[in-house]
Amino acid sequence: MKVLVTGGAGFIGSHIVDKLVQADLQVYILDNLSTGSFSNINPGAAFLKKDIRDEGLKELLARERFDYVIHQAAQTMVANSLADPYYDCDVNIRGLVNLLEASRLSAVKRIIFASSAAIYGDTDVLPIAEDCGKQPSSFYGESKLTGERYLELYYKNFGLEYVALRYANVYGERQGDSGEGGVISIFLRKLLAGQGLTVYGDGSQTRDYIYVKDVAAANYQALFAGTANRSYNISTQKETSVNDLIELLSQLAGLQPAVIHDAPRDNDIRRSVLANQAAANGLNWQPAYTLPAGLSLMLRELGHQTM
Ligand SMILES: NC(=O)c1ccc[n+]([C@@H]2O[C@H](COP(=O)([O-])OP(=O)(O)OC[C@H]3O[C@@H](n4cnc5c(N)ncnc54)[C@H](O)[C@@H]3O)[C@@H](O)[C@H]2O)c1
Repeated sequence: MKVLVTGGAGFIGSHIVDKLVQADLQVYILDNLSTGSFSNINPGAAFLKKDIRDEGLKELLARERFDYVIHQAAQTMVANSLADPYYDCDVNIRGLVNLLEASRLSAVKRIIFASSAAIYGDTDVLPIAEDCGKQPSSFYGESKLTGERYLELYYKNFGLEYVALRYANVYGERQGDSGEGGVISIFLRKLLAGQGLTVYGDGSQTRDYIYVKDVAAANYQALFAGTANRSYNISTQKETSVNDLIELLSQLAGLQPAVIHDAPRDNDIRRSVLANQAAANGLNWQPAYTLPAGLSLMLRELGHQTM
């Protein structure tokens, strides 16, 4: 079985590739290496250095006849989407449409799409279920929501099957400092370097941190799950504040960092936690790693003994 993973040289995509290679699938990575890295590429996968907006995508997919496409490549940063809406739209919408066209014309069986909790925006109803109101507060959230609507219409009009996975804040090995779950890798790096941790606001803002190997497992399940053509939250359904996160990291690392408070960031969502029952029912998926377990694995990878 042949699977194309766009963004497979990036943080989440590379863990998905690892999982697929381990399962003995034939894996191809398509990535322009704009934020991804050559060192993330699993040697068991074929690598195509290409942009998802490339006009040659149709010919490529027609030639290779992939069974499945897992689409992770994107402009991933909320702040960049506000600073440069054209680029966000170009990669996240035009790039997606280019891939969808190539996929339907080459009879791909199913496409899995990396969506985001950012499509919900700030909401009072917690935990956020899939059918909650959606009011993205950034162009990034809007471009992911629009992406989901394209998938829905490609299915309705052309029968191209899809599963959209709305990731909460993803963390784990190989994560850069940017992106949605970047706070953990920033804190870890600073903690181990003996530097202070900067908290925007009072630190009571919460997020739902999901370990990257759980996200990779959800993508794998989505390839074969019976309940397709809908969107699922991929989350722990546990709310963790920045203050709790700092306490946990300090305990695990056995270090006491200085905490510096700065002004709250504009547009920062106060609380975020996503319901995950739908994924348990429809994808037969549940998170396997607690936050302390995932953080301990990251610390170990960085060569630090946990307490
Ligand atoms: N990290 C999170 O917490 C999080 C949360 C929700 C959703 N997501 C989504 O998950 C996906 C993966 O994110 P990530 O955190 O691994 O980011 P990442 O930057 O590590 O990975 C993105 C990959 O896509 C590649 N890419 C970017 N633009 C491309 C283009 N035009 N053509 C080809 N390749 C291109 C990059 O080189 C990189 O390898 C993204 O779609 C992101 O929006 C991430």
